[in-house]
Amino acid sequence: MRILVVNGPNLNLLGKREPAVYGVTTLYDIEQLLAKKFPDVRFEFYQSNVEGVLVDHLQRAMGSVFDGVILNAGAYTHYSYAIRDAVAALTVPVIEVHLSNIHGREEFRHRSVIAAVCRGVIAGFGAQSYELAVRALLEMKT
Ligand code: DQA
Repeated sequence: MRILVVNGPNLNLLGKREPAVYGVTTLYDIEQLLAKKFPDVRFEFYQSNVEGVLVDHLQRAMGSVFDGVILNAGAYTHYSYAIRDAVAALTVPVIEVHLSNIHGREEFRHRSVIAAVCRGVIAGFGAQSYELAVRALLEMKT
């Protein structure tokens, strides 16, 4: 099982960024947690603050290299049609994740332009959102 984990803008600041909203766990901690919890899964982790670079990373999941993708597009979630189109082009399942419950926050965060082309969305469980997404992909595979 190979899973591509793609994180968007400002997620490199996890741990320091608005800890009341996003917690104190860093992105590196999340990556370590996933690698430790799922030793049989081969993960590739990417983070970028740049929209086009995120599209490039998502395009790497075209074909059969990965079995699934976990995507936290950060604020791009709410307005990036380029990322939506990149996800729509993939045939492998993509799970949209968010640390925070975007539906309980500012109104502009309630809408995801990407969710409709994802297999599912997990939001509001902090670092555990990523873990739940891995579990969902594993379930789909069996
Ligand atoms: C986020 C939610 C987005 O609205 C925000 O812009 C982020 C993080 C989350 O994981 O909760 O950067 O995707």
